Formats: sequence, C-alpha cells, structure tokens
Amino acid sequence: MALTKTKRETLGVIFLCFSVCLLSTPSNGDGQPTPYEVLQSHNLPIGLLPKGALGYDLDPNDGQFSVNLTNICNIYAGGFKIKCNPTITGVISTNNLDNLDGVRVKIAVFWIKIEWAKRNGDNIEFKIGNFAKKTFPVSDFTSSPGCS
Ligand SMILES: *[C@@H]1O[C@H](CO)[C@@H](O)[C@H](O)[C@H]1NC(C)=O
Repeated sequence: MALTKTKRETLGVIFLCFSVCLLSTPSNGDGQPTPYEVLQSHNLPIGLLPKGALGYDLDPNDGQFSVNLTNICNIYAGGFKIKCNPTITGVISTNNLDNLDGVRVKIAVFWIKIEWAKRNGDNIEFKIGNFAKKTFPVSDFTSSPGCS
C-alpha cells in the first residue's frame, strides 16, 4: 500500500517534470516552431491559445491546423467561461483564425461555438455562434490562459 503510494507519487513527479520541460522548451526539438510561435508569425497574440498545447499539425499551403492540448481545458477569463476540446482545429492566416472547431464559450446557460477570431489593428474580434460578435483589445491576450 505504502509502496504503491510512493510509486504513484514518483510517477507524478516525473510526469510533472516532463510536462514542465516540454512547456519550457522554446521549440520541440526538430526545429518545428511551437504553436505559440505560429500564432505570432501570423500577427496573432499567444493568449489565443491556452497553456499546455503540445503537438500540432499545420499545412503550410492552406493554413489548416490541428492543435492538441493536454486535456479538456476550462478557462475562466475576462468574466467568460471557455471550454476547449483536447483537439482544436481551424485555418490560420495573417490576422485570422477561421473555421474554428473545439472552442466554446458559455453565454447564459448555453455553450456556444466560437467560429473565428480576427485581428483588426489593436483589437481581436470573435464570432460567437451565428449571431454574436465580441471585440477585445489585443493587450488582453499577451499571455496564454491556464486551464483548470
Ligand atoms: C493529436 O491527438 C490525436 C488523438 O490522440 C492524434 O491522433 C494525433 O496524432 C495528435 N496530433 C499531434 C500533432 O500531436
């Protein structure tokens, strides 16, 4: 029993270290930029992606991407509850994240899909579901929100 618990703790520490190492490595070793660097190279702030993004695929021709998060990610930011699936897909281009799938925001009692995000000068505009748009200053997205 005691041994099992110790084992589990050791594994936990190793896992934690592994995650921290992954997250603090500027690129993932094979020269591929991090997903945060990909955002920046498209003039988008890193705060559009929560902490803990691991692998991703990006088609350089059409900008189609798929990012894996460590887990389902709940974010509470700016008075909004946001839920990210473990995989987020979309199409990235300069100033734009289009065709988003996997990100929802809670409005009243409904979880509504965020369809796209667009940079317009010093603002980021979000399309929420089919009917709503919401604009925030880029300065709200200077760091990546943590998941809970
Ligand atoms: C993302 O996760 C899916 C499902 O676990 C996996 O099939 C895919 O290879 C992963 N992609 C990357 C880029 O890590």
